[in-house]
Amino acid sequence: MSATIIDGKAIADRIQAEIAEDAARFQAQYGYPPGLGAVLAGDNPASAQYVRMKRRACEKVGFHSVAHVMTASSTQDEVEAAVSALNADPHIHGILVQLPLPPQINEERVLRAVSLDKDVDGFHPINIGMLGMKGREALFTPATPTGCMVLLKEAGVNLEGANAVVIGRSNIVGLPVALMLMKANATVTVCHSRTRDLPAIVRQADVVIAAIGRPEYVKADWLKPGATVIDVGTNRVDDPSDERGYKFVGDVEFEPALGIAGAITKVPGGVGPMTITMLLHNTLKAARRIAAAG
Ligand code: GUN
Repeated sequence: MSATIIDGKAIADRIQAEIAEDAARFQAQYGYPPGLGAVLAGDNPASAQYVRMKRRACEKVGFHSVAHVMTASSTQDEVEAAVSALNADPHIHGILVQLPLPPQINEERVLRAVSLDKDVDGFHPINIGMLGMKGREALFTPATPTGCMVLLKEAGVNLEGANAVVIGRSNIVGLPVALMLMKANATVTVCHSRTRDLPAIVRQADVVIAAIGRPEYVKADWLKPGATVIDVGTNRVDDPSDERGYKFVGDVEFEPALGIAGAITKVPGGVGPMTITMLLHNTLKAARRIAAAG
């Protein structure tokens, strides 16, 4: 039997259409649209591309957006000044600091400078702390992990008591998604580059979140038959048969996994579109909170 494909693109399109309707209602009520401010420092082409895609998505749903773009040699003060300007801007409700920042910048100080009311990426240490603690709730949760959780819900996965294995422990995906799975009452194992016998651990998993950033690292025969697989990886690999000369593949061997998994996301068209959608969702929520507080 072939696995069900969890169609992140279709789910993202549907949620974005709802956000566009809500944004129009917000604009009609307050006379201005929800606004997102991005801070981009450095010359990482992938980061620049992500910021472009996020701003394009804002335009599509009727949000205002601005970007503070700084060079790879920008200083701590310059980056923090960009955050402060966005904190003070009444037409900006959400702030996104694209990561990674250049090595001379202290990331923690920058993320701490983001107003809690505008922390739509959920990376402020207070929001991450609330996400981790029992009985507390973060005001905003990070976009990619939230997208993974929405995909699991859409796929009808019951997380209660399920064995969930997260591969990768990054601050952006692995760690927060593990915290969210724990809050959803899954039994969570976090694996990483030094985990011993990863295949044996993955074989126990009802749910696999692959976020290690290595092309097709997770082999199909590691999967438990019927497992749900969320593939967060977007790895660029050479492909002479493609007119661009490259293609994107996930962290999981996709084709052979189709014969073993119960449900799986595609790359591209899985988690990626959900990340942007969750950022838009958080920005709308921030705009509503700020506008309601007057
Ligand atoms: N870099 C890679 N993923 C992300 C993300 O979701 N948000 C931000 N701000 N930076 C990233």
